[in-house]
Amino acid sequence: MRPRKTILIVGVLVIWVLMTYLAFMRSVRVTDGTRPRPAFSNKLMLEQVQHFEQNLKSFSENRQNLYRDIINILRREDKVPSVPAQAIPDVPSQESPVRANEEEGNTKERNPEVDDQANGVLGVPVPLAPIPEAEDGRPEVERILSKFQQRYLNNDPAFPVIPVVVFACNRISVNKCLDDLIRYRPSPDQFPIIVSQDCDDEATRNTILSYRDEVTLIQQPDQSDIPVPPKEKKYKGYYKIARHYGWALRAVFGQGFDSVILVEDDLSVAPDFFEYFLGTYPILKRDKSLWCVSAWNDNGKDGLIDNTAHDLLYRSDFFPGLGWMMTKDLWDELEPKWPKAFWDDWIRQPEQRKERACIRPELPRTRTFGKIGVSNGLFFDKHLKYIKLSEEFVSFTKNNLSYLVKSAYDDTFLKAVYQSPVVTLDELKRGMVMTRDPIRIAYHTKDQYKRATKNLGLMDDFKSGVPRTAYRGIVSFFYNGQRVYLAPSANWKGYDLTWS
Ligand SMILES: *[C@@H]1O[C@H](CO)[C@@H](O)[C@H](O)[C@H]1NC(C)=O
Repeated sequence: MRPRKTILIVGVLVIWVLMTYLAFMRSVRVTDGTRPRPAFSNKLMLEQVQHFEQNLKSFSENRQNLYRDIINILRREDKVPSVPAQAIPDVPSQESPVRANEEEGNTKERNPEVDDQANGVLGVPVPLAPIPEAEDGRPEVERILSKFQQRYLNNDPAFPVIPVVVFACNRISVNKCLDDLIRYRPSPDQFPIIVSQDCDDEATRNTILSYRDEVTLIQQPDQSDIPVPPKEKKYKGYYKIARHYGWALRAVFGQGFDSVILVEDDLSVAPDFFEYFLGTYPILKRDKSLWCVSAWNDNGKDGLIDNTAHDLLYRSDFFPGLGWMMTKDLWDELEPKWPKAFWDDWIRQPEQRKERACIRPELPRTRTFGKIGVSNGLFFDKHLKYIKLSEEFVSFTKNNLSYLVKSAYDDTFLKAVYQSPVVTLDELKRGMVMTRDPIRIAYHTKDQYKRATKNLGLMDDFKSGVPRTAYRGIVSFFYNGQRVYLAPSANWKGYDLTWS
């Protein structure tokens, strides 16, 4: 066996040297060409640099291939453990099994577990690149996340590192979400994408792993069954979601990040998604009456929004979720009492909200494409699929967003609402409104509110007494190209928890 192995290694080395030599000769021939006139020299120089870069790239690819071939050979011969670990540096541990699989010429089916078994049969220890830290007893997730050392780019608090935590389970279509995030993120250093996977679904995990070092995968390790009261059996999914969120947020905030953006695996994001969160970040930090920034508008459908109001933002007492940013301070507050299920309804309760508001946009910066999920498909067909994703890029970091700070906002927004003329629902519906300026529809009871929203195509539900998108009971929307405020009386005293 020994001589064969040596011959193979030597053979591979010879091939590599030959390829390197040929590539080198090619580049020499190019440089030997006739001297160009000065006018063209820059262009030619550029081309040569590019050519050289390509060569370099192919050299390094060759080298990688060489490493792989050697590993393969060593692996086929038995009794050679852990050498491969040193052979490939710079490869994140999670990807190693995937790579190993490719070496078998099996690029289509990326399946770490099958590969692990195969390795076992071949007598080589499973982890291709054992990480020394794995032995210090730290949880896997901590080890994975410990590579994120920076909290601010260049230690500048104006440039916080804000991880995007993508919550995945068993939707392979998570790739749509990841493609968007990767396409639009301005800087991988400032916005590391951490995909947290529950459910242990292999196909989904392989999809996530195929993004290599563009995303970081962490996996919720506790897949044990959750005891659920018999009456809530059908809601078991919500228990799992709450467990997953709690685990992932604990892990990510455990790294000391100042804030994170939470994204579900079925969300598409708008081109200025990151810019939106960067621009609103200082306001979220500064105004303690805010507790989140959300990219979502519950009424963000064509016809109900002003398509030209690209940069219009609101305060909302209703927690929208669906692509949102929270700070570590908030997490520290919620963590000790994180619920077992229905975390989003829980977070909307007065005990958690404490009269704080979220910022939300007029034009949605997220849209959900998932029909199958824990919440029902009917709701998607009836409503969610009409949510319109903003397409224009707004430079929120350059805009003055001070108007969103509570003192300023309560002044101007409430003035705008209560100075607008009142019209009836009938007048609005029949097109009998004489002005194009903003108008107001008044409501005083829950039934009046429900009647108006149903008639106008708005979301009509409440959570902990708060209507969707409402700020101080006011719901702002567009109707027939006109701004309309559905508003309680000016001396509004607070939300009524019995409204549901
Ligand atoms: C930003 O807007 C606020 C009003 O909302 C104003 O008072 C402030 O002067 C503005 N700041 C700048 C730098 O323009």
